[in-house]
Amino acid sequence: MKWFGKKTPPDLSGRLTHIAFIMDGNGRWAKHRGLPREAGHAAGAKNLRKILTACRDRNIHMVTVYAFSTENWRRPAHEVEEIMRLLSDYLDEILRDREKNRFRVRILGDLTPLSEELVWKIGDVEEQTAQYEGFTLNIALNYGGRQEILSAVNRLLASGVQEVDEATFSAALYTGGMPDPDLIVRTSGETRVSNFLLWQAAYAEYAFVKTPWPSFSVRELDAIIEDYLKRNRRYGGL
Ligand code: FPP
Repeated sequence: MKWFGKKTPPDLSGRLTHIAFIMDGNGRWAKHRGLPREAGHAAGAKNLRKILTACRDRNIHMVTVYAFSTENWRRPAHEVEEIMRLLSDYLDEILRDREKNRFRVRILGDLTPLSEELVWKIGDVEEQTAQYEGFTLNIALNYGGRQEILSAVNRLLASGVQEVDEATFSAALYTGGMPDPDLIVRTSGETRVSNFLLWQAAYAEYAFVKTPWPSFSVRELDAIIEDYLKRNRRYGGL
């Protein structure tokens, strides 16, 4: 494996534990090739497998991807169906290959509007992969940062608490118990946060690249990591 000209990647543990991706640009990638938008999502799902392997090889312990936002229901029904189908196929694959790949999967989001079949599958995958502790893939599905914060607030209110601190609040989010993202990458040229991990990103570094997600390469990932490692994260201190 090539890593800044060296043979093995450096150990990033502690400096880059959790990376998150806003996988934007699938539709534009497809349009550019005269293909239907669905083909862009299929290519995006394929690229996710490659980028995930690369993250793991680089000793990153957690990857979170934005697969479907609370706003994405506004898309045409056939596009929504195709994204759900790709996700369902991917969950089948993860379940089938779990002993070989040994990674944990968590779904972040409100599962209420999803099909019963998909909700069952999610439960199954989460349960059957819960034992793999070294590497976790979080899939944000029907996820919105504001919605997540409000549901945490409502859950805390329902439990009768009078006051919350940061730790209690963090624990009530979908990401409860997980480390915050160190680095959030958005592909395809937009420089928006789009309601992704609003609370968790308080001290995250961001990287924006022009490449659409289906073409986002391991080489670009390495360049982003190289740049990230040069940054001085001060968390408000000096
Ligand atoms: C954003 O691109 C992408 C999405 C809304 C869907 C992402 C879904 C996948 C990569 C496939 C399914 C997920 C998994 C985890 C297997 P866009 O469609 O907004 O692109 P555009 O801005 O160019 O139209």
